[in-house]
Amino acid sequence: MMQVTSEEILSGKDLTLYYRTRRGIVKAVDQISFKLKQGKTLAIVGESGSGKSSLANAIYRILPKNVEKYEGEVLLDGVDIMKYDEEEYRKKVRWKKISMVFQGAMNSLNPVLSIGFQIAEPLIIHQGMQKDEALKKAAEALKTVGIHPSYINRYPHQLSGGMKQRIVIAMALVLTPHIVILDEPTSALDVITQANIMNLLKRLKKELKLSYIFITHDLALTSELADTVAVMYAGKIVETSSADVFYRNPKHPYSKGLLESVPALKQKKKINFIPGEPPDLVSPPSGCRFHPRCPYAMEICKKEEPENKEIEGGTTISCWLY
Ligand SMILES: Nc1ncnc2c1ncn2[C@@H]1O[C@H](COP(=O)(O)OP(=O)(O)O)[C@@H](O)[C@H]1O
Ligand code: SF4
Ligand SMILES: [Mg+2]
Repeated sequence: MMQVTSEEILSGKDLTLYYRTRRGIVKAVDQISFKLKQGKTLAIVGESGSGKSSLANAIYRILPKNVEKYEGEVLLDGVDIMKYDEEEYRKKVRWKKISMVFQGAMNSLNPVLSIGFQIAEPLIIHQGMQKDEALKKAAEALKTVGIHPSYINRYPHQLSGGMKQRIVIAMALVLTPHIVILDEPTSALDVITQANIMNLLKRLKKELKLSYIFITHDLALTSELADTVAVMYAGKIVETSSADVFYRNPKHPYSKGLLESVPALKQKKKINFIPGEPPDLVSPPSGCRFHPRCPYAMEICKKEEPENKEIEGGTTISCWLY
């Protein structure tokens, strides 16, 4: 029988999100394609400002007012949900099939509402559930993330950072979605708490058969959770590799640079940082957007943009070296 676990449940094609600003148009997500398999984790990594949160927001369709361009294809179980209007998206997709833990969400919990009510709220609003029943569900969601159900009566200021992060994960899980987008879910936490949350995410992935899009600027963090790694640079995905291939043998010069800048605790090796800064997305460099920082840059790199190519090992890459 066919293994259902390798099935694609979410994919994007040429997904694009530009913002209008006084300085010009910000090309935050520029024709991005990706695939997420059932029960797997797609890690999206890249420096701050590369467009990771914008990509998440484009998939989850939480858009600011200053959108200049929003287009492409997002297939959920084979159906293009970009064609849904907002109401259909809200009814069929958001929170139920795909949910999201927003970057910094733990710091935007409402200080005057109890934890239980904040978890129950979407059930009352989106499902028309009675308050009592919704609170019962909230208590269950708390248990799922390892918090005693009595915490439904507490308030955010009574909780540690790790607890708050568990709460926002519980919120994302309350309508039992299949796919969870996690945008830097541990970046505000100390190392120990970070490790605890990563363990929680691993456990939930297995127990609830979740598929994750895990977004981080921290490559060291992804290694345990990722099945596939997609590297984002200046609004583009420049390499997508299976995690085991990626960590052993990154192909794109930017991926190599990123991996080399991860501090290796056990090695005495000098850390190499990538020289220069990520570009301004209002006027990104011509050709390959990485060329001003790339140690391998050639003439063609400045002029022509490399296309996405599939190479050996199932890696997809945009680089003239391949
Ligand atoms: N609403 C917005 N309007 C204009 N520019 C934005 C908006 N949101 C994000 N940006 C810009 O888009 C680029 C990508 O940002 P973001 O998606 O937050 O990247 P990352 O999550 O990788 O740090 C940045 O240059 C950022 O300043
Ligand atoms: S296309 Fe050229 S500049 Fe871009 S990463 Fe490859 S070698 Fe470097
Ligand atoms: Mg971000």
